[in-house]
Amino acid sequence: MTIFNTNSSQVAQQQTEQRLVIQHLRSVTASLTTTAGSDVVKGLTQTPKTLPPRYFYDDRGSELFEQICELPEYYVTRTETAILQECAGEIAEITGKCELVELGSGSSTKTRILLDAKQNLGLPLRYIPIDVSAGMLENSAKQLLSDYPKLEISALAGTYELALQQLPVKQLPSRMIAFIGSTLGNLNAQESEMFFSQITQALHPGEYFLLGVDLQKPKHILEAAYNDSQGVTAAFNLNMLEHINWLYNGNFDTVQFEHWAFYNETENQIEMHLRSLQQQTVNLSALNLSVNFAHDETIMTEISRKFDIATLNQQLRAHGLVTQKVWTDKNNWFGLLLCQLK
Ligand code: AVJ
Repeated sequence: MTIFNTNSSQVAQQQTEQRLVIQHLRSVTASLTTTAGSDVVKGLTQTPKTLPPRYFYDDRGSELFEQICELPEYYVTRTETAILQECAGEIAEITGKCELVELGSGSSTKTRILLDAKQNLGLPLRYIPIDVSAGMLENSAKQLLSDYPKLEISALAGTYELALQQLPVKQLPSRMIAFIGSTLGNLNAQESEMFFSQITQALHPGEYFLLGVDLQKPKHILEAAYNDSQGVTAAFNLNMLEHINWLYNGNFDTVQFEHWAFYNETENQIEMHLRSLQQQTVNLSALNLSVNFAHDETIMTEISRKFDIATLNQQLRAHGLVTQKVWTDKNNWFGLLLCQLK
């Protein structure tokens, strides 16, 4: 009995491993560790102070983000999921025998909707998830392989920028790069232009780009989504300080800061900040950095831009990315755009 179980699980494991390649991009570790600290120094020594949003995502932060996605006020994830459920069949039909590259794949929950649709049409399944968290990639890849017996995965652990320059050799006739979840909202106008250029360079003419974006909507709906009544978003925001403390041997006292999020209607973006509740000095000894805060001074931790489909189509078009089809929900709160490189 025991022997049989062991053998069969070993066979299953081999079968899984043959369908999985995880590539740790060379310079990832180096670039993350060398530029990470300098990001923090730069952000905390400039006025106004800022910190990059990727510092939200340590283990605790990723867990808090999953909780945010379940909040009644945070319509973003459930709206996009509902749209994907509606249109995945159509996407699979349009794109055909096509590899799926996903930027910031995380737990790959929404990806399953796309994989199911392909599988239903009898299309081959090849998935190239890209994420900075190698642990997350490995766990979700193994789960996917056991749930999709014909799926092949070639995962890349690294930043979008590096991964897009080093995509594995294409094994199916076409390719689609998916950037869903409105992560584009974290990039400012200039950063998005650079990002679109990188997408264009990674694709061949006729290949696809699937983009999920949160749309402009009344201020009260947006502000509620980033100021939830259970305080999960506040905890998520404050956790960035704990993460920085851990990384750089810092002494941020989270009790001395508070969450502040508002919709900037001129820029069409949610801004998240951490506000200092008193005058204080914080030390990050691993960075040899001492930072002074005035009472009420803030650190901007995130922008979350809210888009308008017409404007976005024009920007994409300028990069040769032609929108083929747009799907939204009944409220027009979220948009999913399927573009093709001309
Ligand atoms: C993951 C960037 C799409 O901007 O809504 C959620 C992150 N921040 N609540 C967003 C987030 C606060 C989220 N994105």
